[in-house]
Amino acid sequence: MADMEDIRKAFADELSSSETFAGLQQLKVKYLGKKGVLTSRLRLLSTIPAEERPAYGKLINDLKILIESALEEKEAGLKKTERDRNFALEALDVTLPGKYAVPGRSHPLSRVLKEITDIFVNMGFDVEVGPEVELDYYNFEALNIPRDHPARDMQDTFYITDDVIMRTQTSPVQVRTMEKRKPPLKIISPGKVYRCDADVTHSPMFHQVEGLMVDTDISFSDLKGVLEIFVHRMFSKDTPVRFRPSFFPFTEPSAEIDIGCILCGGSGCRVCKGSGWLEVLGAGMVHPRVFEMAGYDSELYTGFAFGLGVERITMLKYAIDDIRLFYENDTRFLRQF
Ligand code: PHE
Repeated sequence: MADMEDIRKAFADELSSSETFAGLQQLKVKYLGKKGVLTSRLRLLSTIPAEERPAYGKLINDLKILIESALEEKEAGLKKTERDRNFALEALDVTLPGKYAVPGRSHPLSRVLKEITDIFVNMGFDVEVGPEVELDYYNFEALNIPRDHPARDMQDTFYITDDVIMRTQTSPVQVRTMEKRKPPLKIISPGKVYRCDADVTHSPMFHQVEGLMVDTDISFSDLKGVLEIFVHRMFSKDTPVRFRPSFFPFTEPSAEIDIGCILCGGSGCRVCKGSGWLEVLGAGMVHPRVFEMAGYDSELYTGFAFGLGVERITMLKYAIDDIRLFYENDTRFLRQF
C-alpha cells in the first residue's frame, strides 16, 4: 500500500513537469500501458494472500482512474493553451487602417488617342496597324523618299540594318494597306514611331495617327472638311483652322494645318511664340508616284493623307510644357487626368 502512494507521488511529479502532448503520451504508456507500472502491479495480485487481494486490487484501480483523469485533464489544459495561442496569432485588429489599393486609370496619351480614334471612326474611317520595326522600303522608298534623297534629313532615323529601321512615321501603313485593299479606302493608323531626337518637345518614341482617304474623286476640299471637323471636335467648335502651304515628299500639294492658339486665343503667347497659331497636322493630296508604287491607277484615283502627333495634341489640350512627363510614370502627374 505504501508502494501505491509512492507511485502516485512519482506520477504527480512527472505530470506537473510534462508540458507536451508527446510527454503525456509517454506518461500514459509508462503507467497504464501493457508493460506499465500499474499493469505489472495487477499481475502481482495473484501472488498475495487471497483475503488481501480485493483491498489491494481496489487501490490499484483507484490509482488507475486517478491517473487516467489527471492525464485527460492535463491534455485538455494543453489543448486550450494551444488554441489560445493560435487565436492570439490569428487575431485581426479591425481598428487598423486598411491597405488602400490605388485605382488605375488610363494614361493621358491613351485617352487622347482614343478620343482622336473615335472622332475618325465616327466619320467612317477604319483602323489599320503596321509594324514598328519596318522596312526602309515602306517607311521611305514607297513614300517617294529615295535613298540619299535630302528629304530623309527631315526625320532622324534609327537604323537596324541598311534595309530595316524603326519606323519614323505611321505613313508606311498607308502603303501596306493600299497593297492589300482596293479603293474606296478610308483609314487611320495610330501607333508608336521613333526618331533620334530628344528635348522638351521631342521624344525618341512618340505616337502618331496617320489618315488616308482614296476614291475616284477626292479633292482638297474633302481634306479641309474632314480636318476641320476633327479640330472642332477635338478642341472646340469655334477653334480657328488655317491651312499653310508646305512640303512632304508623299503628298502634292502639301499643307500644314494650324489652329488658333488655345492658350491665348490668338493674341500671342509663349506657347504659340507670339504668332497666335499652333501647328497640329501635316497633310496633302497623295502623290501620284505613291499610288503607282502601291499598284493604284493614279489617273483614276485621288486621295488625301494627313498625320498628327498624339503627344503634341495632348500637350496643347492640357497645356503640358514638357513631353518627358508622359513617360516618367510619376503618379502625381498621371493622377490629374
Ligand atoms: N508622316 C508625316 C510626318 O511624320 C506627316 C504627314 C502624314 C504629312 C501624311 C502628310 C501626309 O511628318
